[in-house]
Amino acid sequence: MTARPLRIALVGSGFMGRAHAMAFAAVRRTFDLPVEPVLEILADRDPEQAAGAARALGFTRSTGDWREAVADPAIDLVAIAAPNLLHAPIALAALAAGKPVYCEKPLAATLAEAQAMADAAAASGLPTAVGYTYLYNPMIALAREIVAGGEIGEVTAFRGIHAEDFMATADAPFNWRCEPAQAGGALADIGSHIIALARHLIGEVAEVSGRLHTAHPVRRDATGAARDVAVDDQMDAVVRFSSGATGTLSASWIATGRKMGLAFEISGTKGSIAFTQERFNELQLYREGAGLRSGFTTIMAGPGHGEYGAFCPASGHQIGYNDLKTIEVKAAIDAVLGIPGAAKNFADALRTERVAHAIRASHAERRWVEP
Ligand SMILES: NC(=O)c1ccc[n+]([C@@H]2O[C@H](COP(=O)([O-])OP(=O)(O)OC[C@H]3O[C@@H](n4cnc5c(N)ncnc54)[C@H](O)[C@@H]3O)[C@@H](O)[C@H]2O)c1
Repeated sequence: MTARPLRIALVGSGFMGRAHAMAFAAVRRTFDLPVEPVLEILADRDPEQAAGAARALGFTRSTGDWREAVADPAIDLVAIAAPNLLHAPIALAALAAGKPVYCEKPLAATLAEAQAMADAAAASGLPTAVGYTYLYNPMIALAREIVAGGEIGEVTAFRGIHAEDFMATADAPFNWRCEPAQAGGALADIGSHIIALARHLIGEVAEVSGRLHTAHPVRRDATGAARDVAVDDQMDAVVRFSSGATGTLSASWIATGRKMGLAFEISGTKGSIAFTQERFNELQLYREGAGLRSGFTTIMAGPGHGEYGAFCPASGHQIGYNDLKTIEVKAAIDAVLGIPGAAKNFADALRTERVAHAIRASHAERRWVEP
């Protein structure tokens, strides 16, 4: 099929900017799409950094001012992989310029900004997508199918955590993720993934009781200066879902030894599911009824599970993190092409942000809060 170009402006070329660029380059070689993403403009904080990153990642043009990239009439889609503080200004400018937006999580630095982004998206009628990468895992598609099909009976409980250890010691440097104005802290940074995942699998959260904890109140910045930390290192919440299921949600970036411990267990009246992103090509399934032979079974990812087959025709050979990003980029492109429900959009991401905000309010006010 001849594909028409879809010209991309990408803002940010750090960890996620690189992942976006690689996924845009891979997506049309992986999936049959009517559009061909073109890496048109890379924007970063200054012209030199932008030019260097554009060369490395294969962009045609570069700029040190994201406003230029967003306003460029050639651009069909604005991808935001910049720090959280910039999500709202860039997204609002892009929507005002008539551009669809694909934005990294968390949606925004504040709930008011997230609301403004969702409102602007709704008013414009333009497609939006948010980078909840882990939702695009073929094994999560399988878990969702198992839950929705009633295979583990009625879901009674969800216990989920996103645990990493990159801030485990006080020596881990103060960076933008430590600033409250940047929506820093474990809850906003990685908690958004486990909240989005819980909502994706179990449904809406009706009520939360949360607690935030700062284990290291002082960290040193890149210049060696001591900086007070006013964000959480760990979040723990008890939650009640609208379905009646109960559960817990945690986020920790001080979980020593955990590198990508986005993990959960779902208990149902007829079975259970267990998963960890550290072994994300596997899903553990327990089904009642096997008597003395009962126990968790390990299902290995393979063709037929979600989008796995687009990468590999053989089971158990495993896909990687950047492949999940490619699936996410395909979902964003499908959204641009007008396929309903293809990606989690700003309206959906706002509901995830409301849960995070409710956990924060619950901690501050020491009471149960409805999102
Ligand atoms: N989906 C995921 O799994 C995932 C993983 C990591 C980060 N993220 C999200 O991605 C976003 C970026 O995080 P990261 O880890 O890539 O951060 P990073 O610090 O590695 O990269 C940020 C990039 O933004 C650029 N930048 C800073 N100020 C800018 C400005 N004024 N104009 C243009 N560019 C500017 C930086 O120079 C850098 O290139 C964050 O919102 C983060 O929450 C998502």
